[in-house]
Amino acid sequence: MNTYFRIALAAAWSVLALSSTQVQIGGCDRPCLESLISTYLTALAAHDPWRLPTAPGVKYVENSQVLPLGTGLWPTAGSPGKYRHVFADPGSKQVAAITTITENGVGSIYVVRLKVGEDGKISEIETQITRDTAGAARYERMGQPEAVWLVAVPPEQRISRAMLIAQSNKYYGGMERNHPKGNYSFFDKDCNRLEDGLQTTNVKSGDSYGHSNDTAFASLGCEAQFQTGFLGFVTKIRNRRFPVVDEERQAVLAITILDHNGTVRELPSVNGTSSPIPPYFDVPRTLAASEGFRLRGDKLFRIEMTLTEVPYGMRSAFLAGPPVDLRGPSTNLTIAIPCDHACLDSVVDRVLRAMLAHDASNLPLAQGVHYSENGQFLTLGDGLWETLGRAARPGVDDYAARFADPASGTAAYWGLIKEHSTPGVLALRIKVDSGKITEIEAIGVRAESIGARGGTVTLMRPPLPVEWEGNSLSRLDPVFQQDETGVTGISPVLMTAYFDGLERHSSTGVLFTPACTRRDNAVQGNMSCAAQMDGNGISPNGLYNRTTTVRDRRILIADASKGVALVVAMIDNPATGLAPLPATERVPSTYMILQLIKVDNGSISRVESMIRWMPFGYTSAWAEHNIPGRGDVF
Ligand SMILES: *[C@@H]1O[C@H](CO)[C@@H](O)[C@H](O)[C@H]1NC(C)=O
Ligand SMILES: *[C@@H]1O[C@H](CO)[C@@H](O)[C@H](O)[C@H]1NC(C)=O
Ligand SMILES: *[C@@H]1O[C@H](CO)[C@@H](O)[C@H](O)[C@H]1NC(C)=O
Ligand SMILES: *[C@@H]1O[C@H](CO)[C@@H](O)[C@H](O)[C@H]1NC(C)=O
Ligand SMILES: *[C@@H]1O[C@H](CO)[C@@H](O)[C@H](O)[C@H]1NC(C)=O
Ligand SMILES: *[C@@H]1O[C@H](CO)[C@@H](O)[C@H](O)[C@H]1NC(C)=O
Ligand SMILES: *[C@@H]1O[C@H](CO)[C@@H](O)[C@H](O)[C@H]1NC(C)=O
Ligand SMILES: *[C@@H]1O[C@H](CO)[C@@H](O)[C@H](O)[C@H]1NC(C)=O
Repeated sequence: MNTYFRIALAAAWSVLALSSTQVQIGGCDRPCLESLISTYLTALAAHDPWRLPTAPGVKYVENSQVLPLGTGLWPTAGSPGKYRHVFADPGSKQVAAITTITENGVGSIYVVRLKVGEDGKISEIETQITRDTAGAARYERMGQPEAVWLVAVPPEQRISRAMLIAQSNKYYGGMERNHPKGNYSFFDKDCNRLEDGLQTTNVKSGDSYGHSNDTAFASLGCEAQFQTGFLGFVTKIRNRRFPVVDEERQAVLAITILDHNGTVRELPSVNGTSSPIPPYFDVPRTLAASEGFRLRGDKLFRIEMTLTEVPYGMRSAFLAGPPVDLRGPSTNLTIAIPCDHACLDSVVDRVLRAMLAHDASNLPLAQGVHYSENGQFLTLGDGLWETLGRAARPGVDDYAARFADPASGTAAYWGLIKEHSTPGVLALRIKVDSGKITEIEAIGVRAESIGARGGTVTLMRPPLPVEWEGNSLSRLDPVFQQDETGVTGISPVLMTAYFDGLERHSSTGVLFTPACTRRDNAVQGNMSCAAQMDGNGISPNGLYNRTTTVRDRRILIADASKGVALVVAMIDNPATGLAPLPATERVPSTYMILQLIKVDNGSISRVESMIRWMPFGYTSAWAEHNIPGRGDVF
């Protein structure tokens, strides 16, 4: 079929779909909203967003990332499963469903929320894909929600919309820094909770709960669980939204973001013995959660939760306003103007010392200093500022380096770190202007090991082409710290050619020395840089040869005296290659690649690369918000 026909057919389909699912302007009752969910899931399974009655400028969000409608899961989705739990809210013209879906045959839990705009068309599509195959299978075995979710509650037994929201919100108030002495009377005495289709209250199976070894927690009821204070590792619950309030069924679908800032070191006692926190909580983590609540009277009676991990500090795509409060904490200290190479080196050391001391007050910070971690702006003092325990010292330890670019007032660090028991590789970019630090950007690739109780692996992500489980990095190749007097500097043209080559899977036009080699997550490829770029996917090293766009490309620093560039970019894997795709490639993913690139006489001679998994379509906030002075975007 030629393209013209395809388009014509899609248009015809969309007209048909529109006529059959046109939402009444001004009102959409429960059957209307439920049929909208069916239309949506049918269109998804047909990979055909044209069938949807969408408003112009419809916002499509997948795991907190704003994507063009039709991308992400759309090309890879299979048929939806039979479990379908719908929440309908004619008042706010919103509807949500908890269901399951497959991606290239891999099962996952799928939550979708649709909002109907003033024109009767879909204006918002918010989805959460929880890639928990076992959870999806549990839902499919259940087949349908417990009957109590689906009954219409007699009007005289209902509480108001505002009360439904207020009572549901108490759940989050109670979980955040969960205090054993809190008032948890908002739980019904017969309350139960599902997590990814698994009942985690009042179960006497003796199974351990979550990442912990605790076998008593899941045997307790909702209120008794909160009274242990066990969930205190959730340090903040942000961006709480209650978009779908099903008044008739006295149910609420809430969407929130849970932070675990990595400072809580002990699980309080459930059965008389407190225990160390699992290694998963060594580092700051953020989980995006969708949660259904069913109330009985004004008490929480049923809870149905699914969550997926997103980068720490990630915000809801449906909130406006600045990412964080950037007012503080400036200080009256200053550094030399101009700041030369040695001065920039000392700035790196000072920032590392301050982070290790968990105290920024001795740093010369400008008003409104920007701090980010893995592309999310955080309050300076949050994240690594609380968890960094060790950082390898340049010139002393094996795996550490410093870089400087006096012309742009940029300093950088690359080295091995530790947060509690979890190793990582940290890259820092520090921008100095007029005697003050104006920006600190941290990018960390943490070890992800498959240990007891889920280890430290990012929740719900697929395996990476090459994992770094914290195995030895050995020594950082000394060429990255060698002074190269007389070199001509790093050409942005060469960097662009390198990223273009990664995107095209072709080294044509990329200048590599014949002896150039690359390491990915500490694994040394046995091919030359050029051969690896041409054939990656064939060797177990390197990224797949089916990745597509290389986006959000930034040179964090170009150190001319060492002939080294520190660069970062996002590489998309849309998972649309020919079947059968390997297990690592079946779901859409984005890889954040952090690389040290050594340039000799105009050619790339060595690459040290760390790779981190990100939700598909992830873009750093530096690129999204047009912040002046950020690393060069090209
Ligand atoms: C707990 O909260 C409920 C509802 O707000 C209230 O009626 C009750 O008195 C509180 N209990 C205590 C011990 O404060
Ligand atoms: C109580 O907790 C300790 C430490 O987590 C554990 O070894 C023990 O098996 C637990 N006992 C029960 C009954 O869960
Ligand atoms: C849980 O138990 C395993 C096996 O006994 C042990 O290796 C691990 O350290 C324990 N984890 C915690 C957090 O206590
Ligand atoms: C910083 O300097 C300003 C103006 O000189 C002064 O008012 C302020 O108290 C100083 N702040 C600190 C923390 O020293
Ligand atoms: C991290 O969590 C701890 C424990 O709840 C809290 O005391 C601390 O203030 C939190 N850090 C930040 C930056 O919010
Ligand atoms: C490179 O490594 C792969 C996998 O370890 C192996 O199959 C291949 O033969 C190696 N190639 C060379 C040229 O050594
Ligand atoms: C990708 O690698 C596979 C082998 O793993 C090979 O069959 C395929 O031709 C390669 N595709 C491209 C575009 O190089
Ligand atoms: C640098 O590269 C040029 C050509 O690209 C070559 O002619 C020259 O010999 C090289 N110099 C060194 C020192 O390798």
